[in-house]
Amino acid sequence: MTKQSIHGGWNRRMTFILAAAGSAVGLGNLWKFPYITGEYGGGAFVLVYLFSIALVGVPLFIAESLIGRQTREAPIRALASLAQASGRGRGWASIGWLGAVNGLLILSFYSVIAGWSLDYLLGMAKGAFSGASAEQVEATFDGLLGSVPRLVLWHSLFMMAVVWTIARGVQKGIGDAIQLMMPALFILLLVLLVYGAIEGDLPAALGFMFSVDFSKLSLDAWVVALGHSFYTLSLGMAVIMAYGAYMPAGVSLVRTAGIVALTDTLVALLAGLAIFALVFGNGLDASAGPGLMFVSLPMAFAQMPFGSLFGAAFFLLVAFAALSSAISLVEPIVAFWVEKTGIARTKATVILCAFAWALGMATVLSFNHWSSDTLFHAWFGKTAFDSFDFLSTNLLLPLGGVLTALFAGWFVLPQLLKDQYREGGTLTGYPLWLFALRVISPAGVSLVLLTGLGVNLWVSALVAAVVVLGAGVLSSNLTLKTREA
Ligand code: PHE
Repeated sequence: MTKQSIHGGWNRRMTFILAAAGSAVGLGNLWKFPYITGEYGGGAFVLVYLFSIALVGVPLFIAESLIGRQTREAPIRALASLAQASGRGRGWASIGWLGAVNGLLILSFYSVIAGWSLDYLLGMAKGAFSGASAEQVEATFDGLLGSVPRLVLWHSLFMMAVVWTIARGVQKGIGDAIQLMMPALFILLLVLLVYGAIEGDLPAALGFMFSVDFSKLSLDAWVVALGHSFYTLSLGMAVIMAYGAYMPAGVSLVRTAGIVALTDTLVALLAGLAIFALVFGNGLDASAGPGLMFVSLPMAFAQMPFGSLFGAAFFLLVAFAALSSAISLVEPIVAFWVEKTGIARTKATVILCAFAWALGMATVLSFNHWSSDTLFHAWFGKTAFDSFDFLSTNLLLPLGGVLTALFAGWFVLPQLLKDQYREGGTLTGYPLWLFALRVISPAGVSLVLLTGLGVNLWVSALVAAVVVLGAGVLSSNLTLKTREA
């Protein structure tokens, strides 16, 4: 008999795919991808991001869902028990702890930004943007960022929606709605793209996003593109591991990972194209930063027929996509807490979300009272929001990802790994996958991170080699020891 998670399983294959896609597709695709692509110069940045999805993201996605399904436990315990079953120390569970902390950190600012889309939803529904000029749309956005009470209100409402959804439980809370919303989002993005092609400048958008000029790519752009590939697929913090625990047996991990990654990437590219077509068509600044989506799209909605209706539908879908991602940031920690202590699901959720909510105030203030001259500026040269974002996305996610890749690739019993990989599919691609986990991810990520942080290229390459070789040596030594014992 296959083990079942105590939080209830997802019996239909589609449900896992939808939930994982629900976690993956979120603000990262709709809001963040376009604005960082704009900030870091387009084509070359997009290319690095795509490579990193294929070479690092997909293999890691398979590894995380594999670990979850193998153990049917929440990440921290899953890692500990898999390590033990493979004759390794329980220290590997720290990947789960790292993910838990990082999840709360990300949730703190994620909720604030998701709140913006709620504000826009209301604005659209009231017809506030109908016929508005470019200046008015920009002034509306600045007005929102300047109003602490409004930001706090929407941040709080969004966080309450997160609590409510998680408290209802995996199946009921996350369940069927995603099935409806995901295709709807897709269709609406296509509508926007068509509108952008007619009224905006699609060729300019295509040129910007797909003509590659590496001379424009700064070192930190590499770090950001890499970090974003983790962020957008919800990798590096054991979220997919948590969801993997609910994944039915007899489903191919490889196919599933492929479907989710493809969906996620398509949504990002569609959103990017639609937004940049409108940006270039209206003479807006591609490197406008976090406001990019919140200014370019409302300008289109202001002019198009039934714009308020489309606009309201769009921001509703953005908020929903954000919700299905946000719940996945806390679900693993809630599941762990419930498994470990038997605490009530709702209570655990409320406590954790209250913490993230409070931390979110730093992000709220980053757009107004704390927009300059704070401790964060003195230490990191950025606002609190940008510092949290950089720390969580560009440092902690890749770190968690590399540790997970090393653990799965080098330290889990090979037979166990192989059987679970084969389950529901074939062994096709197995050696390649193992190579990606053992070598490409750890070496690639170490190299990009270290050089991006200003370490000399040769030193970085040396460290990357040491990480891979060290893991190899350490794992084989231990294997020998356990065999002798
Ligand atoms: N993948 C989500 C997005 O693109 C964000 C996220 C990151 C969710 C990490 C869970 C874990 O918006």
